[in-house]
This record gives sequence, C-alpha cells and structure tokens, in this order.
Amino acid sequence: MTIGVFDSGVGGLTVLRALRRELPGRDFIYLGDTARLPYGTKSAASVLRYAEQAADALVAHGLSCLVIACNTASAVALEALRRRHAPLPVVGVIGPGAQAAVAASASGRIAVIATEGTVRSGAYEAAIRRLRPQAEVAAAACPLFVALAEEGWTEGEVVDLAIRRYLDPVLSVAAPPDVLLLGCTHFPVLAAAIGRVAGPRITIVDSAATTAAVVRSELRDVVGASQGCGSMRLLATDDAARFARVGAGFLGEAITAGAVEVVDLG
Ligand code: DGL
Repeated sequence: MTIGVFDSGVGGLTVLRALRRELPGRDFIYLGDTARLPYGTKSAASVLRYAEQAADALVAHGLSCLVIACNTASAVALEALRRRHAPLPVVGVIGPGAQAAVAASASGRIAVIATEGTVRSGAYEAAIRRLRPQAEVAAAACPLFVALAEEGWTEGEVVDLAIRRYLDPVLSVAAPPDVLLLGCTHFPVLAAAIGRVAGPRITIVDSAATTAAVVRSELRDVVGASQGCGSMRLLATDDAARFARVGAGFLGEAITAGAVEVVDLG
C-alpha cells in the first residue's frame, strides 16, 4: 500500500523529502498539478475542485494514506477530502505546521507567511489558537516567493528585497514574533535567505518534518520498520522536463524527465 502525496506543483516535494526520510521503507506516489499551479491565487471553489480531482487520481492507485502536501489545498479541502475518502487517513500540512510553530515559540507571537488563499482562509490562525488559545498570530501573503522558488532564485539581491518588502510589516512591530512559520510548500528552499533577513532572534519553522511524523503515527509505523520497497513514482499534469528540472531542488536529489509520468486530471 502506497502513500499518496499531492501538491499544486513541485513545492510538495519538500514534504515528500521529509516523508521519505521518516519512512524510508515505504512506497510513495507523488502528483504535482503543475498545469494548474498556482493554487494560492485561485478561489476556494477552484482549489477544492482541483484537490478533489488530484486526490481521486491518487486514491485510484490504492493508498494507505493520502498527504495533502499543499498548504492552500489543506486550508480549503482537508475536511472535504476526509469525508470523500473515509476511512482512508488524510493528512494535511496546516495542523502539523501549527504544531511545529507552537512548539518553537516561547512568546506565543507567531508570524505565518503563505499564499493569498491560505492567508484568506484563516486556517493557520485557527489551528494555532486551538493549540495555544492566547497566541498572537500575524499572517502575510507572499505570492512572489512561489515564482522566485520556481525560478531557482533562492539567494541574492532580488530575493532579499522581496523578503524585506513582505516581512517588514510583520517583523518591524513593537512586539515582534519569535517564530516565523513557512506556511507554503515552496518557501523552505528560501529558508536560508529568509532566516538571514529575519535575524537570529526569529526561529524559522515549516511543516514538512512534523507532517511526516503525523503520517508515521497514522500508519502506526515504528522507526526503521519496512513496509514496502522504498519506491517513488512521480506524476505531473504538465511538462515532465520542467518538473524534473525545477523539482530536483525541492526534492534534494536529481530527477530525470523520463521518470515523470504526465497525467490528465480532466
Ligand atoms: N503549494 C502551494 C502551497 O503550499 C504553493 C504554490 C501555489 O500557490 O500553488 O500553498
């Protein structure tokens, strides 16, 4: 039984990377809906429809667990996908991201950066306040970070300027946050630059490692147990060559275009 993982594109490969590290013996199938990226600027109704189609395509392969490795889709479609595919465990990245942020924050002041759709949904604020009701949460949409990450621009002047422009309003306040949560699967590749601009007093967290831990506990795996052969299948809804080239930086290992199957979600 395979673990299915989907995202709007290649960003979710940062989550797949953490999953493969946490569950090395398991088999994975990843779907990147590159033809319809970005989800972050689309309406909730469109994202829900795309997420249902992506989930249906993966579930048809026979899954032990479905991971929504996209913050925007997790924010709007998690409950709907859980109902649609019950009793299949469906894990999103918002709850685990909130858990990581709350665990890392001493002050309870947390800033979340994400896509427009995720910020508009208020899903992170709700998830953080469920864990820590007194938390003060500031959220900022950083849509250009998705394009920078896709372009492979993870360092340099333009990147620093974009980071400053987006982060100044949330960080340059009287009582700044002590945690900055990367609430978008594309942002971990910018983490070093974001950390430098934010400064040493701010801890940067993302949801990849905590999501992988939640998936392991859903599957009741013990560390090191082998439940497959450690395979990875990659599907995309647009050009395989671009997925392979851009995706390698997110997955942290080379991808050959021949290894990417192009599928049509209808
Ligand atoms: N994967 C999306 C997310 O985590 C970011 C890219 C997009 O806007 O589709 O929200």
